[in-house]
Amino acid sequence: MQTLDTFNRPLRDLRISVTDRCNFRCTYCMPKEIFGPDYTYLKKDEVVSFEDIARLARVFVDLGVNKLRLTGGEPLMRRDIENLIDMLANIPGVDDLALTTNGSFSPKRVRSLKDAGLRRMTVSLDALDDPTFKVMNDVDFPVEKVLEWIDASAELDFQPVKVNMVVKRGVNEHSILPMARYFKERGHILRLIEYMDVGNSNGWRLDDVVSAKEMVEHVNTELPLEASDPNYQGEVARRYRYKDGSGELGIIASVTQAFCVDCTRIRLSADGKLYTCLFATKGHDLRALLQDGANDDEMRQAIQTIWTQRNDRYSEIRAENTSEKPKIEMSFIGG
Ligand code: GTP
Ligand code: 5AD
Ligand code: SF4
Ligand code: SF4
Repeated sequence: MQTLDTFNRPLRDLRISVTDRCNFRCTYCMPKEIFGPDYTYLKKDEVVSFEDIARLARVFVDLGVNKLRLTGGEPLMRRDIENLIDMLANIPGVDDLALTTNGSFSPKRVRSLKDAGLRRMTVSLDALDDPTFKVMNDVDFPVEKVLEWIDASAELDFQPVKVNMVVKRGVNEHSILPMARYFKERGHILRLIEYMDVGNSNGWRLDDVVSAKEMVEHVNTELPLEASDPNYQGEVARRYRYKDGSGELGIIASVTQAFCVDCTRIRLSADGKLYTCLFATKGHDLRALLQDGANDDEMRQAIQTIWTQRNDRYSEIRAENTSEKPKIEMSFIGG
């Protein structure tokens, strides 16, 4: 089944945030001043259960979704996430099941994730040197451990691993080339991400954004690049090949080259609310519907109505946005 929104965009990807918690305090996502000891996270009984997530995922697949991504917060903070992966991997019609993690847990977990049925691994890492990485994660976490996670993932056939690097001007731009060299050699795909104005707490300023154009030019000075075609319509990253044939680099330019026109993504937050855009100000409470006893047909109807009415294109109209309404934090809605 194909479900189209008001701009004829089909519903294809469901991004599932399984927790709003994280053990990092990346300055661009969960800055310490806001996400301190007094911050109120969702309580256990507010978090949507694995059974409900799996049930919803089946309904989404009926509506055209074929790709699932688990996010957070940090998805591995959710206990027994492998059980959810196992449930999702067994849904007919799920062609792709991916996870975005900060790679801070024991690399032994990589095996259990693989065994549960995870297909793809994306790891966030913002620098190759400890001083810079620690400024970004703000919890004194060392690079080495994340690299061990990436190695373990590659060994278990999550090859290529994608590595997400959010670039902030004046903070980690100098790490772009070291990161590109390192991951090119190992056959992983580095994705350079423009720093975005998600949520309300990261103090975003346009001046802090290093544009896609600058990033490509910078890499190209040492490692010549050529643009290549997207893997699928609506792919978030623009793909580049290293001209020496040794692999690929991605650029995610949500600020300077918005990709809303092909956006097929919907997001389920850890408390079971549905958001039709990363920059949404309001969600639709699917968990409440489930708790009211809605059957699968009723859930399908509700989601279909939400998608059919969707007209989001925040990144394209960012400059015109004058709304005073607070956006949802990225750690809550999922990246
Ligand atoms: P692939 O499935 O490998 O194509 O992954 P992905 O790029 O969709 O997912 P990932 O979780 O690795 O996200 C990479 C970056 O793109 C993160 O900074 C996300 O916040 C950002 N991103 C993902 N989807 C969207 C979106 O719909 N809109 C915007 N503005 N940014 C997005
Ligand atoms: N801008 C761009 N990317 C961000 N991420 C988190 N916050 C931001 C932001 N403000 C990235 C994380 C992770 C992915 C899901 O989103 O680094 O890799
Ligand atoms: Fe945690 Fe990822 Fe946000 Fe960093 S970007 S604080 S690792 S959820
Ligand atoms: Fe999709 Fe909203 Fe991101 Fe545009 S800003 S690509 S509509 S999630």
